[in-house]
Amino acid sequence: MGAYASVNIVSKRLQEAPLYLTATSRIHELTPEERAVYATLTPARLPEHVAIIMDGNGRWAGLRSLKRFLGHQQGAKSVQLVTETASRIGLPWLTLYAFSLENNLRRPRAEVAFLMRLLRSYLESNLQRMMDNNVRIQYIGRTHDLPPEVQDKMQWASEATARNTGTTLTLALNYGARSEMVDAFKGLAMEMQRRGISPERITEEDIHRHLYTAHMPDPDLLIRTSGEMRISNYLLWQIAYAEIFVTDRFWPDFRGIHLLEAIAAYQRRERRYGGLGEAEREDQVVEDVNEEARTAG
Ligand code: FPP
Repeated sequence: MGAYASVNIVSKRLQEAPLYLTATSRIHELTPEERAVYATLTPARLPEHVAIIMDGNGRWAGLRSLKRFLGHQQGAKSVQLVTETASRIGLPWLTLYAFSLENNLRRPRAEVAFLMRLLRSYLESNLQRMMDNNVRIQYIGRTHDLPPEVQDKMQWASEATARNTGTTLTLALNYGARSEMVDAFKGLAMEMQRRGISPERITEEDIHRHLYTAHMPDPDLLIRTSGEMRISNYLLWQIAYAEIFVTDRFWPDFRGIHLLEAIAAYQRRERRYGGLGEAEREDQVVEDVNEEARTAG
């Protein structure tokens, strides 16, 4: 819990910082193809938080008769390229599902060991690019159960980038949404016991405060690659009102331009949060006025 508390303090400071510190856009650094898609977007309505389920590394490799680990290696390149595009458009929060609790428990040991080595080498070899792109690296998940040498490298990267003010790249590692909720409920129960608070007084806000993501806004857009229509135990609480975008493209083929295309699709959607849509609201107003006129007449 201590680690989360310190993340919360940093994030609170960030939230209090003037907007220009977090939303500096570097559109001129986009590729011409990306710029063409960006031109179709409404910059004022960019999502604040995009979460991605990166899937299809194995199938990408299989299609090319390559070993699975080469798919993961190529997937790590996509992580960097997509993060850089996100930072260029001033996306404040990008959260990537890099390694689930289930991956840890159910994949062959050799694949897990490879993913751990890949994570370390990814952090080491991309740190300078993160600095050049003003990207801050953080993590969510039961990271304390990862191998110590991986944790050391993670801490090194998050400390080195902690003062960056652009996109926050959060890697979900050894993460599962249900275990996040278990951790949150334990934390909340302990707090209530300490403060002598009765369970009837629990609010959604209390639960939110104890999630790993307490310091972030909820995702506006959830992207899943490789065509699967599943949430796979990812950010279950936080995606309550997220727009979902599924693409058949495998993660190793996913690039910044595809992030921009997903954002364009998001901007064509109407977010209703359980309320009425724009058109229905207008119809309702006309109906209400007519009703009032009839009653008055
Ligand atoms: C799914 O592919 C992907 C993962 C296991 C997690 C994502 C991992 C990466 C992108 C690699 C490295 C990441 C970092 C941050 C260095 P899969 O193996 O489930 O694909 P499949 O469903 O086609 O078999």
